[in-house]
Amino acid sequence: MTLKGRHLLDPSDFSLEELSEIFELADSIINDPASFSEKCKGKILATLFYEPSTRTRFSFEAAMLRLGGQVIGFSEPSSSSVAKGESIADTIRTIACYADIAVMRNPKEGAPRIASMYASIPVINAGDGGHQHPTQTLADLLTIRSVKHSLDNLTIGCCGDLKFGRTIHSLIKALGRYKNNAFVLVSPKELQVPEYILNEVLNKGQLPFKQVEKLEEVISELDILYMTRVQKERFFNEEDYIRLKDSYILDNEKMKHARPDMIVLHPLPRVNEIAYEVDDDPRAFYFQQAKFGMFVRMALILKLLGVE
Ligand code: CP
Repeated sequence: MTLKGRHLLDPSDFSLEELSEIFELADSIINDPASFSEKCKGKILATLFYEPSTRTRFSFEAAMLRLGGQVIGFSEPSSSSVAKGESIADTIRTIACYADIAVMRNPKEGAPRIASMYASIPVINAGDGGHQHPTQTLADLLTIRSVKHSLDNLTIGCCGDLKFGRTIHSLIKALGRYKNNAFVLVSPKELQVPEYILNEVLNKGQLPFKQVEKLEEVISELDILYMTRVQKERFFNEEDYIRLKDSYILDNEKMKHARPDMIVLHPLPRVNEIAYEVDDDPRAFYFQQAKFGMFVRMALILKLLGVE
């Protein structure tokens, strides 16, 4: 089955073979970007961002521009007719009259799925509330594959806000489909992964995992340490956020106990959870990860538009 015309709403929308095709295409783009610079000439990408973003929106826009296409959209809904009360269904039906593909970020879980039901063009979920963020996962997997040369046989530490962190939910869903991966989930009790990830993904998939509260106790076991920000915007009260926001701060002292080949990833933005001193550690890959995000989104756009 071709990826042309499909939506990407959840990490499991594509088969492992389809994911491999995307990563192989991303490799080709990285190796020879010039040969892709006109592939999307005449095509338009719409970015519909109902929530703030730096990496996801700019990397999608840069991806389309680097493919020779053009970009329209809004970075906050107040500048569109959403502010007048227009529904997601009507917005996407209108956008489909003007654009060939749409990327949507929305604070409401499931909003991009609703959009996809009314869209005659591919819709990409660029993050829906505290639910999923499948294109961040594409960036994460391409990074891991490039550095570790495999997506199998890994022990992945997920640290921070595992409850509201949509990147974590998507990452566990995706890496759980590869062979022999184990998860070490490091969080305060209040910020543990939601029940559906625990029951429908980890337990149902019989994936090896453990839940702990102290990063120091497990850092030496990890192949990958995926740090996350405590998601202030998803908390119901500020007191809880203030109490939990600095639960984990990765610094050089903690990195001394990590394996020499462990890599540190973070979807960014960071607040305090990775000290700036760690940026100089050769195991810190989070800015490369952001760059891989653009290349993998170029590959995704090409595949969904069917213009290889
Ligand atoms: N990783 C990520 O989604 O970053 P932005 O919120 O800046 O898009």
